[in-house]
Amino acid sequence: MDQKENIMNYETVALDDQDHSIVIIDQTLLPGRTELIRLRTAQEIWNAIYLLQVRGAPAIGVTAAFGIYLLARQIQMENIDNAGSDFGAFYRQLTQQREYLNSSRPTAVNLSWALNRMDALCRKAGEEEKRSVAEIVELLHQEAAQIKEEDIRVCRAIGENGLTLVKPGDGILTHCNAGQLATCKYGTATAPIYLGEERGYHFHVFADETRPLLQGARLTAYELHSAGVDVTLICDNMSATVMKKGWVNAVFVGCDRVAANGDAANKIGTSVVATVAKRYGIPFYVCAPTSTIDFDTPTGEGINIEQRPAEEVTEMWYKERMAPEGVKVFNPAFDVTDHDLITGIVTEYGIARAPFTESLAQIRRKKEAA
Ligand code: MRU
Repeated sequence: MDQKENIMNYETVALDDQDHSIVIIDQTLLPGRTELIRLRTAQEIWNAIYLLQVRGAPAIGVTAAFGIYLLARQIQMENIDNAGSDFGAFYRQLTQQREYLNSSRPTAVNLSWALNRMDALCRKAGEEEKRSVAEIVELLHQEAAQIKEEDIRVCRAIGENGLTLVKPGDGILTHCNAGQLATCKYGTATAPIYLGEERGYHFHVFADETRPLLQGARLTAYELHSAGVDVTLICDNMSATVMKKGWVNAVFVGCDRVAANGDAANKIGTSVVATVAKRYGIPFYVCAPTSTIDFDTPTGEGINIEQRPAEEVTEMWYKERMAPEGVKVFNPAFDVTDHDLITGIVTEYGIARAPFTESLAQIRRKKEAA
């Protein structure tokens, strides 16, 4: 496919039930080539997540959930140590695979959130309800499909809530890609933009290019442009310029993990944008499904920030050097935006505002009561 075909018509993550594989768009090749790849083994799923062929916190979670279903099915079929009928053997083998998948990337909590949800279902069905392995595999299938469906509903609800914060014609700046390509539909930070577009709001979006891997240029600018949204690509060092000119009314970003006090980890550079937005009095909103809120991590200090290979900075993926051989490189994939720089955290259950410890806990209670 060339760039003229619309990327918005593709699913970010899909399960092929006939072929027993996960189908993803290889996002490392976008926007130049749209290639669908199939993941079947634990190693293929691990690699796809680690290599960012599938990326963005919610999409990683959905991929891992489908992965657990497929691996459970394989364990049942292979029947090693009687795992096709003995729950103990089945669970031991599945636990190994779950832990392996969980080691692919550390920062986005949606990965462990989805894996834990699949694990809880498996233990309940096997230990408490004494279901057969075949039944458990089918339940895991349904749960993974449910996680995907929920992601679509949740993103839409974030879009509705986010849309109350802006008005037609506004300028919106975003960083990295928290778009449809990072979720199953709508995105998180882009959901208010897509919903606004449907309703004739005609926002003017500024997409930061997002070094080192250019998710903003390759993915956000690409998907928004394909969807007919008015988007302008800017380099990461231009956000102060467009803000100072008065072109930006609000910033919407996604996130990989929100601590209980509202500190939010997102793509490296997000905290710079938040700091500049504060300087110019521009509201800074973090869009977060509740699956991205980690109540077990009290503050941003406790968030494990992934360190990525130096080559991403010195060569990106093209193997053409952009920096001297042997130079020292620091390449954290994410940074933490302190909660005092955040105007609001937009979730599917409403918008949390300072003090975040209380407002996020209230959102959690709303979710539990739903
Ligand atoms: O390294 P990436 O591309 O996975 O980083 C993605 C981001 O930082 C997104 O903003 C975040 O995962 C939210 S996606 C809705």
